[in-house]
Amino acid sequence: MVKKAIIPAAGYGTRGLPITKVLPKEMFPIGLKPAIHYVVEEAIESGIEQILMIVSRKKNMIVDYFDESLELEAFLERENKHHLIEIVPVPSVPIHYIRQPYAKGLGDAIRLGKSFIGDEPFAVLLPDDIMISEKEPALKQLINQFNKYGKTIIGIKEVEESKLKNYGVISGKEKGKGLFKLDDMVEKPSKNAPSNYAVIGRYVFTPEILSILDDKQQPAGGELQLTEAIKDLLSEEDCFGKVVDGERFDIGIYEEYLNLVNTIEQARKRKK
Ligand code: UTP
Repeated sequence: MVKKAIIPAAGYGTRGLPITKVLPKEMFPIGLKPAIHYVVEEAIESGIEQILMIVSRKKNMIVDYFDESLELEAFLERENKHHLIEIVPVPSVPIHYIRQPYAKGLGDAIRLGKSFIGDEPFAVLLPDDIMISEKEPALKQLINQFNKYGKTIIGIKEVEESKLKNYGVISGKEKGKGLFKLDDMVEKPSKNAPSNYAVIGRYVFTPEILSILDDKQQPAGGELQLTEAIKDLLSEEDCFGKVVDGERFDIGIYEEYLNLVNTIEQARKRKK
């Protein structure tokens, strides 16, 4: 059973400068909710019971956002604005936090979760990828596959050739509809990408990935990439890529962020 999730949110968000100097990318508004709220909801709707967020000195706003706000609640109570208390976010599952002292890469961020995870399978959700899915939440789709196979499952989507250079790209054989047994992965290929299937920021891992990350040396002055650890994992056990139903918006790319804001706004108007 996959009950725990890690949400790494300690990166610098350099593609979003200058606003990300003071406003974390994960807090970008999408309607009246910040991006990371959507990701926490997706995790909870997928059955996750405990979340660990990896934050940094500059991300206290995220911690504050999910905390109780006693003054605000007391004020709303006094003013008889009970309907507003309900929308103030206090998640129904515990959220724990660890600070990553330096943004030394996604792999480094995830290995900080080792004692939280212990010896269980776990999910990772990248909060800059927002998944809008008509059917089941994206993470739930991966957990369903994990429950069938008990192997690491990585969310993938087919993307246009010109966009492959922005993502990790898989190489593998299709075993069933939209399910690939992976044999390799290439991070941000500038040319000769091994397929058109790019990794989205949703994963379900067996705990082995944490031992691999723990043994890995931090490259001098560089980032410890999650992709490097996944490649090592591939030589130890079978891993799968699963095509996820739904639309991905990478809010690190400004046009996709705008697109997402419009999509959510249109959906809100349709509901009215
Ligand atoms: P990204 O590479 O997309 O985010 O990492 P970034 O580094 O913040 O953004 P750019 O590329 O400079 O614009 C994916 C996720 O992993 C987290 C980020 O916060 C983001 O949510 N991350 C990345 C960490 O938690 N720690 C890191 O060292 C790197």
